Amino acid sequence: MTATRTLRRLASRAASAIRRLTGRRADIDYRRWYSTWNLQRDYWTIVGPATKEEFDRLSRVKLQLLIDLGLAPTSKVLDVGCGTGLLAAALHDFLDERGLYVGTDISPEAIAFCRERFPRPNFSFHVNEMTRLPTLTERFDFIVFFSVFTHTYPRETALLLHQASRLLADNGLIFADVFTAPLIDEYSGDRSAVEINPDYLMHLLEGSGLRAELVDMQPRPQLGQRLFFTFTRE
Ligand SMILES: C[S@@+](CC[C@H](N)C(=O)[O-])C[C@H]1O[C@@H](n2cnc3c(N)ncnc32)[C@H](O)[C@@H]1O
Repeated sequence: MTATRTLRRLASRAASAIRRLTGRRADIDYRRWYSTWNLQRDYWTIVGPATKEEFDRLSRVKLQLLIDLGLAPTSKVLDVGCGTGLLAAALHDFLDERGLYVGTDISPEAIAFCRERFPRPNFSFHVNEMTRLPTLTERFDFIVFFSVFTHTYPRETALLLHQASRLLADNGLIFADVFTAPLIDEYSGDRSAVEINPDYLMHLLEGSGLRAELVDMQPRPQLGQRLFFTFTRE
């Protein structure tokens, strides 16, 4: 058994033990997690899908979702929390040479992996800090946070959205999903799954100049939901 597999198994046992003892899930440190992972062997599980087929299917689903919101082959897209390139893979064949794709993530390993995998001239990848997007001169038609705010605390989420709003092109939109729990005060959970009270999220966005629109929702356990929002400048 390789050292990474042993580490993963130990981490998973520790997480189960914490869950059993405290009733809570262990915090996920994505940066640390990536540094123990062999992305060449498995680049899908770390971002959620159990199989490569599921990763490829979700890649197509997310592309279609953005097309339904107006994505065109010439669009400029900023993909924050790009992970191992689930969206980049779909956009690689969709965007033409007038389009632009910029992927960012807090994990240097994820960024190095994507740089190697998607070497198109109009594709670039950058490491970002937890609450600071890289300095970029472009303005984007789409800024997407797919399954990112499910791992950031509310004030981090708000900071990222405030910064994203400044990188939007005229008529550009931000797309993001969040786990919500209407009965909790402010938020609960940890980086493995942060649930936020939807009114509290809107409160944190006051002054950002962003208008939120709920575009879809999926049920989650215990009255929770995954809400999908677009945000546009007022
Ligand atoms: C569940 S994965 C989703 C990856 C990708 N968006 C997708 O749909 O496959 C969450 C990703 O968000 C990244 N992430 C977490 N917090 C972040 C932050 N503050 N800024 C950028 N990326 C972040 C993690 O490193 C991880 O790659």
